[in-house]
Amino acid sequence: MATPDWSAIRSLPQTPLTRLFAEDESRLGMLSADVSGIHFDWSKTHLTPQAIVAFSAIAEAMGLAGKRDALFAGEIVNVTEGRAAEHSAERGEGAPASVVRARGFHSRMRALIDAIEAEALGPVRHILHIGIGGSALGPDLLVDALGRDMDRYEVAIVSNVDGVALEDAMDRFDPQATLVAIASKTFTTTETMLNAESAMAWMTEHGVEDPYGRVIALTAAPDKAVEWGVDETRVLPFAESVGGRYSLWSSIGFPAALALGWDAFEELLEGAAEMDRHFRFTPLAGNAPVLAAFADLYYTQARGCETRAVFAYDQRLRLLPSYLQQLEMESNGKRVTVAGEPVTWPTAPITWGGVGTDAQHAVFQLLHQGTHLVPLEILGVIEPGDGLNEEHHRQLLLNAFAQGAALMTGRANDDRARAYPGDRPSATLLLDRLDPRTLGALLAFYEARTFVNAVLLGINPFDQFGVELGKEMAKAAGQGGLDFDPSTTDLIARAFP
Ligand code: F6P
Repeated sequence: MATPDWSAIRSLPQTPLTRLFAEDESRLGMLSADVSGIHFDWSKTHLTPQAIVAFSAIAEAMGLAGKRDALFAGEIVNVTEGRAAEHSAERGEGAPASVVRARGFHSRMRALIDAIEAEALGPVRHILHIGIGGSALGPDLLVDALGRDMDRYEVAIVSNVDGVALEDAMDRFDPQATLVAIASKTFTTTETMLNAESAMAWMTEHGVEDPYGRVIALTAAPDKAVEWGVDETRVLPFAESVGGRYSLWSSIGFPAALALGWDAFEELLEGAAEMDRHFRFTPLAGNAPVLAAFADLYYTQARGCETRAVFAYDQRLRLLPSYLQQLEMESNGKRVTVAGEPVTWPTAPITWGGVGTDAQHAVFQLLHQGTHLVPLEILGVIEPGDGLNEEHHRQLLLNAFAQGAALMTGRANDDRARAYPGDRPSATLLLDRLDPRTLGALLAFYEARTFVNAVLLGINPFDQFGVELGKEMAKAAGQGGLDFDPSTTDLIARAFP
């Protein structure tokens, strides 16, 4: 099986960004793209035509085109688990049979939403969505980003097993008007099942006659949901081949589809499908997810960058970094190749980030003058999300652009403490507006980019065995069935004397 040869990437000349601009007038045009309402600008990264040629050769050696086709054809790309990865079928891009199946599941979801709206389950004002990881981060991002004006429902996404999280939602919600959505692909996740049971107890204590009648299940394990007590008519299934961190397009997106409306959910899917088609059919040199992945890999493989940071200059996208942390780190934080051999090159960098302009007053000091080189991604939205005077939005975006420029150009000063080294890279993503369609395209872009990274790294992005050991040990500790080390034994004894 092929392994990536980074030697051509590592021997590329490390020309400063300002010189790259000075030497090539076509740089901006060559390193930008417009797809589905998003303007991508990689000109302030160190990508060059030479780098793109070198990466394209690696992409070819690693079989990117064929693997991309296999992904969309519903072939088994998740080799360790013997599964396809069919999240794109949820938005209509995939194996025909899988697309038909996804449409069927969506119709079922829509019918249940119609029934809820017609008060078939009684009055619903509050949606208590219980799920964790991919069963929470996606819906949370959607509702938070797009739901500023929603007035019919109040949504709480509860993930943590810390009872404080559930209690906070319960304190706000009327149990008689609450619909509980249990979101779990496997329907076995400890945190989710405990939170679900506590939610039932809360409803019972508050006189809800049939709490289980107010529950719906979003899952790829419908039998388990029925066994737990959810009526079959209120189970919204999705395919086993849709991975948890790729599942917001399936019934896991239920709270968004209910609270934002079905049309919005369909727009989200259509925006994602448009990005899928761009990814599938655009030549590498103009392909947004591919170019983004080339830039990612340049910094990890040639410059030793261990992190990458995402700053959304838009309050509505404040949850994007957490969403991307799971998507990118759970997918590509791997240490064996697809063939099961150890990798001898860095895999996923650590994704982190925050929201602009807040982050400028917290972490940007390190970005401008620290000893780490951190490739940045700066996001902005042209159409304002607020209705205040336009100065707010003007300042927001000007700050975003100024940071990218300042990081790149730096500023000399005889006093070293006041000097800015510059040559610090950033990519900018400028969205026309933040609507369901554009957000769908943006998230599909990130999925595709994560996939391209994985293919070139030679790893499987669709499994996540790394999260299992800690889960098992927590369970064993609860059952007293493990001989822990002295430190852990002492901690357990202190907490539970
Ligand atoms: O912790 C890992 C993980 O399996 C994630 O990949 C997943 O999104 C999350 O747990 C929740 O799993 P489930 O949807 O099965 O409850």
